[in-house]
Amino acid sequence: MSALSPSVGEPQAVRQLLERDSGIIAGVEKLRFFPLAVIGGKGSHLIEAGGRALLDLSASWTAAGLGYGHPAIVEAVCAGIQNPAGGSGLSAISEAAVTFAEQLSADLQEVGGSNRRVYLGNSGTDANDVALRACRRATGRERIVAFKGGYHGGLGLAMGVSHIFAAAGVPADPNVTFLPYPDPWRPHTGDAGTVLDDVILRLRDELSRENVACVILEPIQSDGGMVIPPDGFLSLVADACHEKSVPLIVDEVKVGLGRTGYLHAFAHEGIAPDIITLGKTLGGGLPLSAAVGPAWILDHGTASSLLTSAGNPICAAAGLAVLSVVRRDGLAQRSRVLGERLRAALKTGIADQGLSDRVGSIRGRGLTIGIDLVKNGDLSTPDPELARKTVYRAWELGAVVFYVADNVLEITPPLVMTDDEMNEGVEILLTAIAEAETVSNEQIRQFSGW
Ligand SMILES: Cc1ncc(COP(=O)(O)O)c(C=O)c1O
Repeated sequence: MSALSPSVGEPQAVRQLLERDSGIIAGVEKLRFFPLAVIGGKGSHLIEAGGRALLDLSASWTAAGLGYGHPAIVEAVCAGIQNPAGGSGLSAISEAAVTFAEQLSADLQEVGGSNRRVYLGNSGTDANDVALRACRRATGRERIVAFKGGYHGGLGLAMGVSHIFAAAGVPADPNVTFLPYPDPWRPHTGDAGTVLDDVILRLRDELSRENVACVILEPIQSDGGMVIPPDGFLSLVADACHEKSVPLIVDEVKVGLGRTGYLHAFAHEGIAPDIITLGKTLGGGLPLSAAVGPAWILDHGTASSLLTSAGNPICAAAGLAVLSVVRRDGLAQRSRVLGERLRAALKTGIADQGLSDRVGSIRGRGLTIGIDLVKNGDLSTPDPELARKTVYRAWELGAVVFYVADNVLEITPPLVMTDDEMNEGVEILLTAIAEAETVSNEQIRQFSGW
């Protein structure tokens, strides 16, 4: 497939599916950026209604971390569904769920001490919700410390501690404190050199109040704008929490399982979180999440977090296949190498094609990459319109990419992406940024995005 295949507009098949969707699927679950209507997928590509292949540079917000139709997942799920050991983990033990949890725990020796438990859930939201509530119950304390720009879930308490929603006017949990996240590109102190010290000072101050049930953070803030914190952030937070015996939850729902170039993103600084939450990639496309942490927290309150289909053996089988493929195929290492190449190719292309006035920064770790779109090359003037038109133009050119924080393209392709696909992705992204103004306001009007 050529990167510069002619733009297709909206062919009949796409339009028909969109019309049916708008008449039946609830608006409350729609986060739409362009007319993406799909009927299948293979590897790093989605197949659009009408048959066009689209290179997926998002991996469905990383839910398809191993791409689409991965043979190991197909095999595991087919075997599981032919002879399912029940459909729920609530009141029955299944071999698949126990084996998966054992493997996940074995991969997380640094987390939660030696007596670990694994909560199995359906989505990143419930894994975070459960972890947060368990911390409150087990510590008898109420206050949660979270970070500005954070995203931990789209419902319940996980939503209540997600600053993205609070900033948009959704009432936050009454017992959450939001601290600034150390952002070297847009420093809240006005000086990149002081953000880290300031955040840690504020955190220590919060923790000294003795009423904190837990701290929750993203090791890279993705929906908040692909913010890579300065080195030292994770270890300084972990030390501060440890000194006050306050549990630290590291939310790796989006960036875990190889995506940052490490099997787990917290390994970048070698810290030992109390709890880690995982989702998205973990299920290989099926709904599966986990919270892994100490028994004194996750065993506290038997039958206090109940979802019927959580821990079901089919999703567990998919999860086990994902864990083994990530290890077997060295996908963390692959992500590190490919991510470096991708960032380098983007930087060269931006300079060569005279696009530096539109791109304030290209940053990332592994295959977790942000392209920060701005006016006049200046980070103090983000360009949301350019982001909206770029993702639309990219779709016309044959790729799927979304934006976060209004103006940052989030590049999180499947970890199995090939070198050729990467090159194709770079070509499409550069062309889309260059040609964004060919997209009319009318074309993007109905796609409100975030
Ligand atoms: C860091 C992080 N945590 C939690 C979630 C929520 O996961 P889910 O949408 O699977 O419930 C997301 C989703 O984008 C996320 O990025």
